[in-house]
Amino acid sequence: MALPTALITGASAGLGRALATALSGRGWRLVVDARDAARLNDAVAALPRPDLVTAVPGGVADPGHRAELAAAVGDRLDLLVNNASDLGPTPLPRLADLPPAQLQRVLAVNAVAPLALIQLVLPALRAAGGTVLDISSDAAVEAYEGWGGYGASKAALDQLTAVLAVEEPELRLHAVDPGDMDTAMHRAADPTATGLPSPDTVVPALLRLVDERPPSGRYRAADLVPSRVTG
Ligand SMILES: NC(=O)c1ccc[n+]([C@@H]2O[C@H](COP(=O)([O-])OP(=O)(O)OC[C@H]3O[C@@H](n4cnc5c(N)ncnc54)[C@H](OP(=O)(O)O)[C@@H]3O)[C@@H](O)[C@H]2O)c1
Repeated sequence: MALPTALITGASAGLGRALATALSGRGWRLVVDARDAARLNDAVAALPRPDLVTAVPGGVADPGHRAELAAAVGDRLDLLVNNASDLGPTPLPRLADLPPAQLQRVLAVNAVAPLALIQLVLPALRAAGGTVLDISSDAAVEAYEGWGGYGASKAALDQLTAVLAVEEPELRLHAVDPGDMDTAMHRAADPTATGLPSPDTVVPALLRLVDERPPSGRYRAADLVPSRVTG
């Protein structure tokens, strides 16, 4: 039987890398990306089964790169994780000061690219009865000063996920709010934050969605693994 396959975007650091480590430890075949090829290759080399990993350096907003990812996946895909994300300009600007071009960039990476990638691999997902995890944020549903552009992109991602779930009832499509994590993205957004949990603590919540296949929906990692503390 073919090995289960996952495509994880943004797998060289943070949550994407933590999930890739867990799935590689289970013997999954992985297709992973990130823009910085050297950092991606270093991350892959440190995975439990680098021999089962295809690294495709590039940015998810690039259509040619997305086509490369889909080609690397092949005919069956058990899990797509749209994890790569753009925070937008920092320090986080109020909406009054958010350049429209920056908003377009954030929407392109965080909402348009995930849907475009799903479209490309839908046949492979259908062949496997697969799962999609679109990594969202509490900023999609809360009105935090400075988080308007990023939050709007995650709200768009949530709605794309919800509608796709209705349109593709044979698949599992989840938007997942991981909660605050100690990562480069969070440090860029809030350099003063301390004591945040490691992204490793979110992995059990993601694996629950993969393993237990609950109904498609929007989930908070804190609700799936209640011991996890979120901000
Ligand atoms: N950290 C938090 O507290 C928090 C809270 C709520 C939600 N989230 C969400 O959780 C997810 C993971 O975030 P994180 O904190 O783990 O981020 P992170 O540590 O900054 O890692 C981001 C990863 O994505 C890659 N990446 C960034 N832009 C990309 C692009 N355009 N195309 C391909 N790869 C790209 C990065 O590598 P390169 O830079 O080399 O491309 C890196 O591998 C994101 O969707 C984020 O919005 C995070």
